Amino acid sequence: MQLILIGFMGSGKTTIARKVAHHFKSEWIDLDKYIMREQQMTINEIFAIKGQSAFRQMEFEALAKLVQEDVVIATGGGVVDDAQTRYLLEQSGIPIFYLNGSYEAHWRRVSRNDRRPLVNQLGHDGLRELYHERRPKYYRLADYTIFFQHKTPNMMLTEIEGQL
Ligand code: S3P
Repeated sequence: MQLILIGFMGSGKTTIARKVAHHFKSEWIDLDKYIMREQQMTINEIFAIKGQSAFRQMEFEALAKLVQEDVVIATGGGVVDDAQTRYLLEQSGIPIFYLNGSYEAHWRRVSRNDRRPLVNQLGHDGLRELYHERRPKYYRLADYTIFFQHKTPNMMLTEIEGQL
């Protein structure tokens, strides 16, 4: 099945992609993991060695391939920052779900580990600014918005299924 999950870091895109795909007996892919495999580097290494804009280009190129496949895609939180990627997703015709919650709910989840370069670079307050800057972009791109707070993955799956 074709479905795209967008949302800020820590919104649970990967967990929900896996869950939805499993339910519909479909393939699923996590964009970060796909890029790491292609580049043979971690996201932290890509940011440090090649830079953020090179990473955005990698996301675009990976998505240009993936939107042609029958797969549930968990995107990275920054795909909405790149105009060509936004356009690609918009034009794909694939249903786009925005997983949304309060900033603090995202922060609680992302501050638990250090595998995201922007969390380390920006810290709590800088990341909050980025969250507010991106929010309208997620809303504009999404066909549906699903709030994740106080919900189990199963509840979110039911909600997504109801929208399809
Ligand atoms: C990023 C989000 C990350 C990853 C990278 C940059 C962002 O993905 O692509 O660290 O700019 O929001 P997740 O949203 O899966 O954490």
